Amino acid sequence: MSKLKEILVPDVGEATDVEVIEILVAVGDRVGTDESLVVLESEKASMEIPSPTDGEVERIQVQEGDKVEEGDLILELSVQASPNNQAQSSGGVAGGSKESAGHQLETVRVPDVGEAKDVTVIEILVGAGSPVEADDSLIVLESDKASMEIPSPCAGIVTSILLSVDDQVEEGDDILTIETESVPRLTDSVRSKSQSVQSKSQSVRSKGQVVEKRPAADTSVIAPQGSKVHAGPAVRKQAREYGVDLMAIVGSGTKGRILKEDVKAHVKQQLDRTRSGEDGAGIPKVPQVDFAKFGAIEILPLSRIRRASAKNLHRSWLNVPHVTQFDEADITELEEYRKQQNLELSEKGVKLTPLSFLIKSVVSTLKEYPQFNASLHPDGEQMILKKYIHIGIAVETEEGLVVPVIRDADCKGLEQLAIESAELARQARDKKLPLDAMQGCCFTISSLGGIGGTAFTPIVNAPEVAILGVSRATVKPIFDGENFQPRTMLPLSLSYDHRAIDGAEAARFTSHLSKMLSDVRHMLL
Ligand code: COA
Repeated sequence: MSKLKEILVPDVGEATDVEVIEILVAVGDRVGTDESLVVLESEKASMEIPSPTDGEVERIQVQEGDKVEEGDLILELSVQASPNNQAQSSGGVAGGSKESAGHQLETVRVPDVGEAKDVTVIEILVGAGSPVEADDSLIVLESDKASMEIPSPCAGIVTSILLSVDDQVEEGDDILTIETESVPRLTDSVRSKSQSVQSKSQSVRSKGQVVEKRPAADTSVIAPQGSKVHAGPAVRKQAREYGVDLMAIVGSGTKGRILKEDVKAHVKQQLDRTRSGEDGAGIPKVPQVDFAKFGAIEILPLSRIRRASAKNLHRSWLNVPHVTQFDEADITELEEYRKQQNLELSEKGVKLTPLSFLIKSVVSTLKEYPQFNASLHPDGEQMILKKYIHIGIAVETEEGLVVPVIRDADCKGLEQLAIESAELARQARDKKLPLDAMQGCCFTISSLGGIGGTAFTPIVNAPEVAILGVSRATVKPIFDGENFQPRTMLPLSLSYDHRAIDGAEAARFTSHLSKMLSDVRHMLL
């Protein structure tokens, strides 16, 4: 046999202006125990009103936007008869009191938190000595379903705090003591709360009506002071977990109520903004432009090599704090020697270009400054020094830039270096380079000398820590202390990872390199 059960607005403390902001059920809906029926919101809190029992919604008495107060009929449920009738309440409870010297010491206790389990003290808002007004929030409790600010039942001075943050509490536990000037004037709602604690098993209401006790806790959550945030306890909890300020979210629910989806969307939006650099923290995206609007265009696919090197260069550019050190080497004598050697070598079909001398000089300089023949350890706390010297040569091909590697360059002579670099460049241009010929590089030389230019800033081929850019040698008037002499000067551009190498070291490196190149005898030693 079924009977009608009235669901009334519960004790909402002294909150005024309590508004029905959402009705979560419709007539004819079957609801289960604990299922939320309506959402009420006051200036300070929002509260989902759960069903005390299983039943079917027979009649809904309120509409969204209605102002309600304690005891107002929300809706009627058709339920099977149940003997489980109890009162319920929420809010701070004025517990036992002691009178002393005209003052009264009130012990404030945890109010009826329904059947909520694991109610934790998450914040204590006052300290011993704090003056409080009636209704000032004292502590914040949180269960798995709701958070709840416990207001003071009276005005006075907090004399002692009887619990700590993270304590698990239950109804009746002491919260703190308040010394009141005189006997506190209990408001109706506070009185009803204390009655409900004192006569838990009875069904008592301040308005003299009898209601069924709801099995679940009241789920009031206080919004930030003065805010107009509409959000339920679960949403507020989720927002706290994500560190989201609900004030920053525009709710998509009824009357702007913030839903869980809104919080998720907000978090996602913030992440997207960070990723796209809109907030200044990331790398701003280059805007997409419809170039066809301005004239004829042609779209060509990027070669596999160009795509791969673009990725590597971008990664290095973003990861490596680059500095480029510029210098010049006087290669007048080297050029004379090279030309002379080439006359002899031409019979063997071998040609020495400045590159072989560069490799030889770089090898010698790397031996002198081993921190350039190194990589930073991924942990960022160690340096890996390499005991082998494999030199990479940047080679321009139709498909893009490739960097074949001359292994153990320190064990090879000028002629051998010339033969190997020419062969590797040929293989690269013929797309015949085996994969392992592009691995294991310690230091790269990028020579644009055959083409032109005075200087450039090559990008370090990370995890290497430096790269030498070489531009075109030109004859320049160099002052020897008395006169200007025509000298062949080779521009050097050493880019390095400033995390691994200091500027002074880089200057020493290029000075040493320049010395090696300026006197070919150094190289032959
Ligand atoms: N100054 C003046 N002349 C130079 C020179 C320099 N720094 N470097 C080379 N030359 C001369 C050579 O002596 C040669 O002249 P020659 O024919 O009169 O003897 C001519 O320029 C062409 O040399 P090249 O064929 O380029 O040989 P190389 O050994 O100097 O260079 C490569 C070989 C593979 C490095 C080169 O062909 C190459 O591809 N360079 C491009 C690298 C690149 O794109 N780097 C950019 C990375 S960001």
